[in-house]
Amino acid sequence: MKVCVIGLGYIGFPLAVVLARSGHRVRGVDTDTKRVEAIRSVNLEGIEPSLEALGQEVVASGFLDPVETVSPAEVFVVAVPTPLDENRRADLSHVDRAIDSIAPHLEAGNLVVIESTVPVGTTERMACRLLEKRPDLAREDGTPSFFVAHCPERVLPGRIFEELTGVDRIVGGTDPESTSRAAGFYASFVQGTIHSTDVRTAEMCKLVENASRDVSIAFANEVSMLCNRMGVDSSTLIRLANRHPRVRIMEPGPGVGGHCIPVDPWFLVESAPLETRLIQSARKVNEAKTEWVLQRIEESVSLFENPVVACLGLAYKPNVNDLRESPAVFIVKALCANGNCTVRIVEPHIRDLPLPLAGFARCRLVGLEEALAEARVVVLLTRHRAFDGIEERLKEGTVFVDPNGTVHEGMKKSGTGERP
Ligand SMILES: NC(=O)c1ccc[n+]([C@@H]2O[C@H](COP(=O)([O-])OP(=O)(O)OC[C@H]3O[C@@H](n4cnc5c(N)ncnc54)[C@H](O)[C@@H]3O)[C@@H](O)[C@H]2O)c1
Repeated sequence: MKVCVIGLGYIGFPLAVVLARSGHRVRGVDTDTKRVEAIRSVNLEGIEPSLEALGQEVVASGFLDPVETVSPAEVFVVAVPTPLDENRRADLSHVDRAIDSIAPHLEAGNLVVIESTVPVGTTERMACRLLEKRPDLAREDGTPSFFVAHCPERVLPGRIFEELTGVDRIVGGTDPESTSRAAGFYASFVQGTIHSTDVRTAEMCKLVENASRDVSIAFANEVSMLCNRMGVDSSTLIRLANRHPRVRIMEPGPGVGGHCIPVDPWFLVESAPLETRLIQSARKVNEAKTEWVLQRIEESVSLFENPVVACLGLAYKPNVNDLRESPAVFIVKALCANGNCTVRIVEPHIRDLPLPLAGFARCRLVGLEEALAEARVVVLLTRHRAFDGIEERLKEGTVFVDPNGTVHEGMKKSGTGERP
């Protein structure tokens, strides 16, 4: 099939590669010329290693053609960003523009799938938008002669390639024929089960999945703050509580990052503010946890005169290079702005500091050894594998701040949960 994937980011590019490897003729469209050039010349720094070689293969064989503009296809897949605006409502301007770019090329019988995460009702609105722009594609009864569906993306950064094909997919069309066409399309490259439903259920399913994870993480984060207050070690407590056969508390951290879990719950809140009290509370707890960790670091900093603070990890989750919405970035930025310490960042998954961190004179990206040698305060912000056993390596007198709720002196581990 001729497929046009619109948006070649974290989701769209791997999807385009997988489609091309399944034998589809794929045009990958991105309005970012640099991105298109990077893919065309296979200069894909920072993408998942398993994808680099496969990307190279499908571009070289001509099955994936990276371009800046949309052209006719049998299937159009929209994978553009859906961030929050300043009022924490979904900013759908990229989706609107992607749909508008498809409209002139649309023909009867084509399928348009929105993979971007969107508030409930968006896919139906996009179907109407297409029909308004292309009234010639209305059937006699006024319904469209093209098909529109939503198929939310559920991949885990770090395992995108395996999960794109292996994980079950939810497909919901704006009418039964759209659902069936979209299910058939996904069956052509997904090994996981395709679950067909209506479009609103498909949209809401993705939002509820992420809200559910946000609520679970909020509970763990609340427990970690509670443990600190009670002088109880949160790691031990959670390990013991999880010995109960029906309890599964997650691991606390410095907040929630990435551009899905901290964002998508707000799409539910904007649609139903009165029915989302738990979801809103979870968001607030997770945001408060980041501030709480920052306060613990600042208390530790105040024990010394202008100490070096080693911040271990910037990514929002272990073993990836994705810094989007990372609470670690928020914390490091606040420490740099505060001015009473010098910050050393250890992030093995990036080569350069992003702006605005790169602009702070008191902040530098260094190796782990250098950071540990200089630091009086060590903060574990991301549990990368490279930091396993870090507590054993701290110098005596170093203060260690772990976002799981413990703050203690290096080499003196009797007092987990104690403040130095
Ligand atoms: N990253 C993830 O792990 C993940 C997981 C599940 C769902 N999602 C959802 O998938 C969607 C895409 O996310 P992403 O992480 O790939 O975003 P991204 O920012 O990495 O990439 C989006 C790409 O779309 C391009 N773009 C924007 N407007 C365009 C337009 N009108 N035409 C063509 N290209 C355009 C951008 O230049 C960018 O390269 C979002 O809705 C996101 O919530 C992402």
